[in-house]
Amino acid sequence: MTQPERLPDFPTGGCAVVIGGSGGIGRAIAIQLAERGCDVALSYFKGSARADETASLVRSAGREAHVGQVDLREEVEVRRFVDEAAQHFGGVHTAVYAAGPYIPMRFIGQQPAAAFREVMEHDAFGCFHLVQAALPHLRKAKGSFTAIVTPAIRRYAVRDILSAAPKAAIEQLVKGLAAEEGRFGVRANAVGVGVITDGLYHALVESGDFDQRFLDASRQAMALKRLGTADEVAEGVVFLASQRARWITGQTLMIDGGYAI
Ligand SMILES: NC(=O)c1ccc[n+]([C@@H]2O[C@H](COP(=O)([O-])OP(=O)(O)OC[C@H]3O[C@@H](n4cnc5c(N)ncnc54)[C@H](OP(=O)(O)O)[C@@H]3O)[C@@H](O)[C@H]2O)c1
Repeated sequence: MTQPERLPDFPTGGCAVVIGGSGGIGRAIAIQLAERGCDVALSYFKGSARADETASLVRSAGREAHVGQVDLREEVEVRRFVDEAAQHFGGVHTAVYAAGPYIPMRFIGQQPAAAFREVMEHDAFGCFHLVQAALPHLRKAKGSFTAIVTPAIRRYAVRDILSAAPKAAIEQLVKGLAAEEGRFGVRANAVGVGVITDGLYHALVESGDFDQRFLDASRQAMALKRLGTADEVAEGVVFLASQRARWITGQTLMIDGGYAI
């Protein structure tokens, strides 16, 4: 029997855009995309030094990196960044949304409305801006969109409304995108990230939101009884973004140690 031809994971021309490339999850994704042959345009908001570190890790993996500052709340900035990336690399075949603001964990009754509004602006609207900016390029490349969400949209964790609410909106955006854009060859998927020991984790430990009791309870709630890593998350993101997942769209893959089961 002849073996079917193995397609490359990603097209040779164009680039992958990683929004949140200065963050813990975004960095792991950018590196793994580079290891699989993608040039990467990565964004930061305030962490320019961290973004430069990610860029140098992309270059160490043998690929080109382009770094830019983006405030996701500003539609024009997001569009400019994506268009510049497309111009610089000759197209955008992959867009990954791996951003989100710091989120203080409080019960809904104690959360100021302003905090809810702000997180929606950064996260839900930010992702919407990215979708609209990336779409013309993804149509041209028949490419993919992948967004980070949270398992709390399936199994709610107390005090996690500022994560669960915008990420539920983002999951719906991803499903809508998959349904509407499949006819143009564009795929869209989401990855729900459980508690991992990278990225936002450090700030949440420092603030006391992730105390020992919370971390022990989180581990206990996971089938695999351990916290994950950004690398483990990136494996799933890069798979869904790649041609290997060419018949997968509109899905949310939980990479959460079995938390949301
Ligand atoms: N780590 C976890 O355990 C976990 C679990 C579930 C879900 N998530 C979600 O996954 C996403 C990434 O998390 P992470 O752990 O990688 O967090 P992180 O290390 O804090 O990274 C967050 C990224 O988002 C960027 N960002 C924040 N606000 C922005 C804005 N208005 N405009 C543009 N960029 C903005 C940050 O930029 P700068 O740093 O340059 O300012 C950074 O690149 C977040 O939405 C988080 O809630 C994380």
